[in-house]
Amino acid sequence: MQDLSIFNPASPPAEAIRALFVLVLAVTGGIFVLVEGVLIYSIIRFRRQPPGAMEPAQVYGSMPIEIAWTATPFLIVFVLALILTRTEYEVRVDPNTPPPGSRPLYVTVIGHQWWWEYVYDKYDGQDLGVITANELHVPASEEGVARPVYLTLKSADVAHSFWVPRLAGKTDLIPGRTNQMWFQTKDRGLFLGQCAEFCGTQHAHMLLRVNVDSSDEFQRWLEDQKRPAVDEAAARAGRDVFLSQTCVNCHRIRGTSAAGTYAPDLTHLMSRQTLASGAVPNTQEQLRKWLIDPQRIKEGCLMPAFGLSAEQVDQLANYLGTLK
Ligand code: CUA
Repeated sequence: MQDLSIFNPASPPAEAIRALFVLVLAVTGGIFVLVEGVLIYSIIRFRRQPPGAMEPAQVYGSMPIEIAWTATPFLIVFVLALILTRTEYEVRVDPNTPPPGSRPLYVTVIGHQWWWEYVYDKYDGQDLGVITANELHVPASEEGVARPVYLTLKSADVAHSFWVPRLAGKTDLIPGRTNQMWFQTKDRGLFLGQCAEFCGTQHAHMLLRVNVDSSDEFQRWLEDQKRPAVDEAAARAGRDVFLSQTCVNCHRIRGTSAAGTYAPDLTHLMSRQTLASGAVPNTQEQLRKWLIDPQRIKEGCLMPAFGLSAEQVDQLANYLGTLK
């Protein structure tokens, strides 16, 4: 079971959010215990007395008490607002001024119903222009070498929200608006997340996978992604099916005439571990099921069943399987 807990942060923004959460919980928890304690004490101490017992002292309109219980909550809220502001500064850094000596990665994330598009803009000062979908790869920081990841968030349709709890807080992807977020981690491995803003029927299947690679692994992955799609003679039949069907209106395969931008880039489909934004593992069997009827795997998704013949499904699955 993957750890999705905000209490196990692996990146500075997530750490700042945990610290804020724990502090606010301690302060409000203290107030809760105090108020409920006085309440329970009063219920017991001043419960109904037999007739003729003395009435407790009445303190209505006491100036010192009125001032105390106006000023104290004001001070508490004021201090919490200051701490919140400091957290905001830690979480919202300016992507244009990365720490000196760091090797920043810039990726534009575009939310679609119901998948994620990643456009790799720049790494360590070099322009990239690599496009992939659903599975983000980023380099890990090391002792002495910070590799902050700056995300520019946009939406192609409705509001989505990028949330990988161990890396950073939620940030919305809003149509017509550009948001920023960042994270940085030394922990290699897979970090999971989820679209955190209801965006339609398949919102729950808009999963996030962030692979934090060593810097060498990341570099190799980047070089692979830069290449156009492989063109194996044995898979030509499937390639022809792909290019003659409406697949090309929505999907892009670099190195072919397929240049659609409405659906995930498939140039290196086989470098991904899942299909349909994390809905199912990326196996030949699932790929075939997806080609036969995507609605069986992801009901309501924007890819229709094309009524392909069994032979076409075989050829297409064979071709897509070569897109390493
Ligand atoms: Cu995208 Cu919910």
